[in-house]
Amino acid sequence: MTSVQVDGIAELVTNDPSRGDETALGVLTDAAVVIDDDRIAWVGPSASAPAADRRMDVRGRAVIPSFVDSHSHLVFAGDRADEFTARMAGTPYDGGGIQRTVQATRVATDKELRALLATRVDEMHAQGTGTVEIKSGYGLTVEDEARLLRLAGEVTDETTFLGAHIVPPGVDVDAYVALVTGPMLAACAPHARWIDVFCEPASSHAFDGDQAREVLEAGVAAGLGLRVHGNQLATGPGVRLAVEFAAASVDHCTYLSRADVNALAGSATVATLLPGVEFATRSPYPDGRALLDAGVRLALATDCNPGTCYTSSMPFVLALAVREMGLTPAEALWAATAGGAAALRRDDVGRLTVGAAGHLTVLDAPTYQHLAYRAGVPIARCLDLGWPARPA
Ligand code: NIG
Ligand code: FE
Repeated sequence: MTSVQVDGIAELVTNDPSRGDETALGVLTDAAVVIDDDRIAWVGPSASAPAADRRMDVRGRAVIPSFVDSHSHLVFAGDRADEFTARMAGTPYDGGGIQRTVQATRVATDKELRALLATRVDEMHAQGTGTVEIKSGYGLTVEDEARLLRLAGEVTDETTFLGAHIVPPGVDVDAYVALVTGPMLAACAPHARWIDVFCEPASSHAFDGDQAREVLEAGVAAGLGLRVHGNQLATGPGVRLAVEFAAASVDHCTYLSRADVNALAGSATVATLLPGVEFATRSPYPDGRALLDAGVRLALATDCNPGTCYTSSMPFVLALAVREMGLTPAEALWAATAGGAAALRRDDVGRLTVGAAGHLTVLDAPTYQHLAYRAGVPIARCLDLGWPARPA
């Protein structure tokens, strides 16, 4: 491996907490970064950059830490564009379509799923994402959930077991929770870093508070980290359960009560907002501004999946958060990078500091503000430094 000096950076977002408070972007102008092997070895003003084996000039562009997309469901087959069209005409989302994807995914071969997954990961990488979390959840049998996690593990270390996605139609809910927390967890835990559960008020397709609690307890016993899909369809027990269990993240947070916001504020749990879902389901956007003002730590992620949001684009998500959730461009960028890393309990991605991963995203623009300002224009891409582009 050789070292590379990336120079000519008009504006460098470091997210270095030592350059300001925790959520400051730590911006440098006229900067350079030196990467040795695949780790950052030096960050600072261009004029004092140490020499390296190779030099790469980005010619006055902005550079940011590659996006950390901390919530996706990339391993699936099939298409549900018809549901999107129906929602745009007023049909609400209720989670019922998940079973259609389960059917299409179960009959797909490993080879087919691998090819679909690779295309989606490449699409993310081409839009500036350097780290992606991937959930199972479209298998819902012991064999299929383990298979989806094995495939996800071929492209990321951030794998999440989501056997508790929905109760398969015709299956008794108590029997299914016993399967998820027993044999399915045993088969999946070796392939997963995290466990997740879709928790909503009773009578939805998802799991109520008591059932979700059983899933989280079993996950803890199996040594997995915790994540929760919470409060997507209604105010319910998900957010407070996540906080009680000190889960790394509770995701969606579309419908929040004052008690939910108070519980999140100052807790160990990141609130991961998924504005692409509100966009594609015509749901109300949660008030990101109010969450930040209350002291809640935020992440932004795509939730890329065939039902509620089939976008792989972090810049799109970031622009929505600015326009619809009241975040400033700086807050949204932090949430899409360092916030995503916090939601994955990582401090080696989402920031450009010495020792962190050399995941640089170049913007075809002079400042990061252009990410939201030029919404829809493909200005962000991961810098290809010549080593394998596998997201960490
Ligand atoms: O995060 N809400 C649960 N799961 C996904 C949607 C899955 C689907 O509809 O296929 C989500 O939005
Ligand atoms: Fe999701």
